[in-house]
Amino acid sequence: MPNSGNRQQVFVLVGGTGDLAMRMLWPSLAMLDQDGFLASDLRMVSVAREKCSVNGFHDRVAENLQKRVGKDLEPGTQEKFLKRLHHVSLDASDPEWGIKLKAEIGDIRNLDIVFFLSVSPSLFKPICEQLRIAGLSHAPNRVIIEKPIGRDLASSKVINDSVGHAFEESRVFRIDHYLGKETVQNLIALRFGNTVFEPLWNSQSIDHVQITIAETVGVGERLGYYDEYGALRDMLQNHLLQLVCLTAMEPPSGLSSDALRDEKVKLLRSLKPIDASNVVQNTARGQYGPGFADGAKVAGYEAEKGSPSNTETYVAVKLEIANWRWAGTPFYLRTGKCLPSRTTEIVIQFKPVPHSIFGGDTQPNRMVIRLQPEEDIKLVIMNKSPGLTSEGMHLTALDLSLSLVAVFDSNGSKPPRRRIAYERLILDALNGNNAQFVRRDEVEAAWSWVDGIIEGWKQAYPKPQMYPAGTFGPVNAYTLLDRDGRAWND
Ligand code: BG6
Repeated sequence: MPNSGNRQQVFVLVGGTGDLAMRMLWPSLAMLDQDGFLASDLRMVSVAREKCSVNGFHDRVAENLQKRVGKDLEPGTQEKFLKRLHHVSLDASDPEWGIKLKAEIGDIRNLDIVFFLSVSPSLFKPICEQLRIAGLSHAPNRVIIEKPIGRDLASSKVINDSVGHAFEESRVFRIDHYLGKETVQNLIALRFGNTVFEPLWNSQSIDHVQITIAETVGVGERLGYYDEYGALRDMLQNHLLQLVCLTAMEPPSGLSSDALRDEKVKLLRSLKPIDASNVVQNTARGQYGPGFADGAKVAGYEAEKGSPSNTETYVAVKLEIANWRWAGTPFYLRTGKCLPSRTTEIVIQFKPVPHSIFGGDTQPNRMVIRLQPEEDIKLVIMNKSPGLTSEGMHLTALDLSLSLVAVFDSNGSKPPRRRIAYERLILDALNGNNAQFVRRDEVEAAWSWVDGIIEGWKQAYPKPQMYPAGTFGPVNAYTLLDRDGRAWND
């Protein structure tokens, strides 16, 4: 869906005073503006139920820009950005919402409008309906929606149907901010821009893969939302499965949106089902209890909630892919809150050499793709320790990514800023490029696999196992790998 030529662009952020908007979305747009990526006549409109004057809204955005990107703001950026940022207070339950919004936007002929719905998914349907009735959902206008797209396959279909009633699929941009992260893009370059790794990228050479998204923070103020979703739905159904797709999918025929997404769907459809019969062996489910994490004492999830809860704040899964490339190579996934460090990484663990001529010294190679805290890719290989002796081998990590700091330090210039993941994705949406957004069949294939775990848990694993805040998850997460003679890369 190409951007429509000389139409004036309008970016409408519904939920413009919300937490995500303030922390991520306005700062992303301000940085795109500073770097000259936004059309000079682009207008931005914030819509929110909350009553707030335009000046009051500008003050809040300014305060958040200072917090989030203050050190990167050049003189004049903030003033220029705020000048084209308008705010209107409208309640989505008002049957006139769409008509009133249209009046705020003005003459809609020859506009190219991108709506970003940063609101509860329960509002997707009424908002899209209002946009349709007000005549705002026609091409080339498009809509960006945030996860969660449902709580299971059935509810995600209801959401997709209602959004699809107003915007056809090619104009629905389902955002997963992990796809905007620099190293995720780098993973695609590494796999499909080189010939050296591809012959090794299969079960012949790879013993197993680990994908970890560890967070030190707890659930905090999002408890209301989180208690209904838990780690499986909040993180694994989307971010973790997207990382699995990009790591494991077949090479796409090109970078066009459908070529890439067809491969991801194919992969998701080859995941071996997990259900009540095997959920206990293949998953670990945890909830943080009292402890110490992120530099502070933690009372524990149930104490924070003030009542008992079976919501998991930690999930680990042994995932198997039933296809020629991956049969026999498990992918171990884990994510959790209140863990000891903030780390997001994909570890490709290669098989050991078939016969070691160096005695017990040889260890298998590893590729570590780090997304957080730093972004880099390292290949860990065996190397001889320097010296005259023929003995002594050690693992050495080679930096494979053009680590920004290394490149720029060497020529004495300032390394480029690490971009917010939303910057790339918002820019793509403005340009009408949906390759890095999630297609309907992808979301549904992911839910269809996750539904097996949800059902399995209900029947066979109803309660999460407690882990003290500040530790690496419940005991079962360790047994999951132990049983296979493997260990997490802690
Ligand atoms: C969000 C989840 O999608 O991703 C949060 O809803 C989580 O629970 C966040 O904290 C993690 O994102 P990042 O980019 O900080 O790893």
